[in-house]
Amino acid sequence: MTDQELIDLALQARELAYAPYSHHKVGAALLCKNGKTYTGCNIENAGYSPTNCAERTAVFKAVSEGVKEFEAIAVVGGLDTAENLPICAPCGVCRQVLMEFCDPKTFRIIMGTNVPGNCVVKTLEELLPRGFGPAALEG
Ligand code: THU
Repeated sequence: MTDQELIDLALQARELAYAPYSHHKVGAALLCKNGKTYTGCNIENAGYSPTNCAERTAVFKAVSEGVKEFEAIAVVGGLDTAENLPICAPCGVCRQVLMEFCDPKTFRIIMGTNVPGNCVVKTLEELLPRGFGPAALEG
């Protein structure tokens, strides 16, 4: 699976985003170590705080099916009116959820757009330096 293929899956997932309040539609595609992919979109709510981001939708789909080892995630997002999508970086809550399951030194976050080649790739450690994870609670 290439980074571009993962971005393309995220773009497809973005089509299903439910964002009637922010109009900011996000799609994510999570590549698992077993080769499987899980996609997700943001799902907003009239109560606002129950809103779930695209990245977390993808992670929770995977974990709820027993898959917890991940290699990379592609994220694409922007206003539903945008012709050219900007780079969309995961929010802090999603970075923390990724920290629960991913190796911060090797897990890659591919921030893509709808323009092939226009993307930024960072490790989780780069986006969440000195992150608090399960290791911090080991005895
Ligand atoms: N959103 C995501 O889905 N992922 C992010 O990393 C950034 C924000 C969503 C949440 C909300 O539905 C909308 O984008 C605006 O914040």
